[in-house]
Amino acid sequence: MNLAELSALHDESLAAVRAAADTAALEQVRIRYLGRNGLIPATMKQLKEVAPAERPEFGRRANAWRQAFGQELTVRTEALAAPAASGGGTFDCTLPGRWPRAGAQHPLSRVIDEVTRIFGRLGFTVADGPDIETRFNNFTALNTATHHPSMDAADTFWFDDDRLLRTQTSPVQIRAMLAQPPPVRIITPGRCYRRDTTDATHSANFHQIEGLYVDTRPVSLADLKATLATFAREMMGPGVGVRFRPHFFPFTEPSVEVDFTCHLCRGQGCRVCKQSGWIEIAGAGMVDPRVYRHVGYDPEGVYGFAFGMGIERIAMIRYGIADIRHLYENDLRFLAQFA
Ligand code: DAH
Repeated sequence: MNLAELSALHDESLAAVRAAADTAALEQVRIRYLGRNGLIPATMKQLKEVAPAERPEFGRRANAWRQAFGQELTVRTEALAAPAASGGGTFDCTLPGRWPRAGAQHPLSRVIDEVTRIFGRLGFTVADGPDIETRFNNFTALNTATHHPSMDAADTFWFDDDRLLRTQTSPVQIRAMLAQPPPVRIITPGRCYRRDTTDATHSANFHQIEGLYVDTRPVSLADLKATLATFAREMMGPGVGVRFRPHFFPFTEPSVEVDFTCHLCRGQGCRVCKQSGWIEIAGAGMVDPRVYRHVGYDPEGVYGFAFGMGIERIAMIRYGIADIRHLYENDLRFLAQFA
């Protein structure tokens, strides 16, 4: 490069700065000349190839160019920022305003509301209990054997020998029956805690909905099935099937696990239901006579059923959520879907 070329570049660069119409364009000009591979650094590097006689003058002019370009850049940057900063300049009244973003109901709250609404129509009222429970309400009265693994410190958050963070919403059954004679017809949504290691489907803090119906006139397993089938249709749509599988829970006898037909494949078998066509939704059964004795009910004169289900599971199925952690991280990119 010779002196004439240098001076042409100098003029051209200042003109480019002045012509930049906005800050984005100005930034492009800055990068073109001052960036790591820009023309000014490249010119500086060429200094040693310039003929020795011209070298001092070339160096001086290159430095002057860098300075002039920097100054022009500052002037232009300020000029472009000025209208906004001073509140003057042109105000474009056609620009969209800044709307406050509307909040949305959390998917877990949605499911809780929907489930309680459905059971509300069936005559169930909402009952509540504390997160901190006693050994009696959470385990003993629910007929849980003292050696049951769920009572282990490895599975349950204990405060002391008697108090713990409830591992299930079932203790609210005990509270409700201690508080009133039958009939009891309650639904109880709430938080539960277990020492689970967090992964895509487990969380140490999760939610359940418990249901309890106890009456002095006969209530049967058929009533339980009809109640849950009604719930299934309301929640998932008219075509849904319900099946009971024998199971064990300490507080019910007989006990069942309740499956709904997979809402995605309608029972055909798919990835979500692991090709079985069914999705496990709840645990349930007829209240064990020993539970009645613990709350002072006469087991000969009362009949009832109970059930419990995981809210996260229903929300994940309902809204196609692949990872339970999305429900707790309050990431707006996730929550915005529910707006
Ligand atoms: N508490 C049980 C659990 O956390 C769920 C459950 C099963 C609740 C059967 C019930 C029931 O009321 O009858 O796994």
